[in-house]
Amino acid sequence: MRLQRTLMLLVLSGTCLIAVYGGNVKKAILVVSFGTSYEDNLKLTIEATEKRIAAAFPDYEVRRAFTSSIVIKVLKKKGILVNEVDEGLAELAAQGFTECIVQPLHLITGEEYHQVVKTVAKYRTSFSRLAIGMPLFAETAGYFRTLDAICANNPTVGSGEAIVFMGHGTHHPANSSYALIQMILEAKGFPVYVGTVEGYPDLDWVMDRLDRDGIKMVTLLPLMLVAGDHANNDMAGDEADSWKSILTEKGFAVRTILRGLGEVPAVQDIYVSRVREVLASIDSADDAD
Ligand code: CO
Repeated sequence: MRLQRTLMLLVLSGTCLIAVYGGNVKKAILVVSFGTSYEDNLKLTIEATEKRIAAAFPDYEVRRAFTSSIVIKVLKKKGILVNEVDEGLAELAAQGFTECIVQPLHLITGEEYHQVVKTVAKYRTSFSRLAIGMPLFAETAGYFRTLDAICANNPTVGSGEAIVFMGHGTHHPANSSYALIQMILEAKGFPVYVGTVEGYPDLDWVMDRLDRDGIKMVTLLPLMLVAGDHANNDMAGDEADSWKSILTEKGFAVRTILRGLGEVPAVQDIYVSRVREVLASIDSADDAD
C-alpha cells in the first residue's frame, strides 16, 4: 500500500514536470572550487575548466560556486558575484532545475570536499537527480591519470635538476594523499618532489631529498588548481620565507612557474570525465530501480 502510494506520487510528479517543462528537464552542472581573487588566474584556470565542461555537456547549464566565503567577499567588492555551494543549489532548485551534478575542482578528498558532500546531501529531496563527482586524486587510477596529465606538461629538466611541486596540505586525514602522489611520481621516474605549504611533507622534507639526490637546480610549480595567493607569495614571492627565497639561500638555482593545474587542458579533461563518471553511475542506478 505504502509502495503504491509512493509510485503514485512519482507518477504525479512526473506528470507535473511534463506539464511545466513540456517534457524538457532542466539540468545543471554546478562547478565548485575554493575560488580565487586573482582575476586573471581565475579566467585561465577555473573559468577555462568550466568552459571545457560546458562544451562537453551542451544539455546542461553550467554554474559556478566557490567554497571560500572570503574569496566571495573580496570579489563582491569588485562587482563579481559568485554563489556559495548552498546558495547555488538553492537557486537551481528554486529555478526549477530537476537534475544537478555537482563537480568539485578540488584535488583531494579533504575537508572542503567533504563539506561539499554534506551541503549537497541537504538538497537530496530538492532534485530528482542529484550527484557529486570525484576530485582529481581520489581512487588510485585517478592519481595515475592526473600525474600523467600534469607531468606531460612539465618543463623538461636535465640531470641535477628537478621539479618541486607546492601542494596545499591539510590537517584532514586526506593529507596522506601527498604520500601516494610522491610514491607514484617515483615509480614513474618523474624527477618531481612534492612538499606542502600547510601540511606534511614540508619544504624541509623536500630539501633533504634534493640533497640526497644531488639536485642543484629546481623549478617550482604549484600543485594547486589556481596560481593564487600561495603560489604568488609562499612559493614564488620575494619575502625571505618563500620557498624560492629559502631554496635560493640554500644554494639552489631556482626558477618559478605560476601555472595552476586548471590551466592544463589534460587536467580540465579529467574533470570532464569525472562528470561523465557521475552521469554513468546515476544512469545505472536509474536502470536498477
Ligand atoms: Co591555504
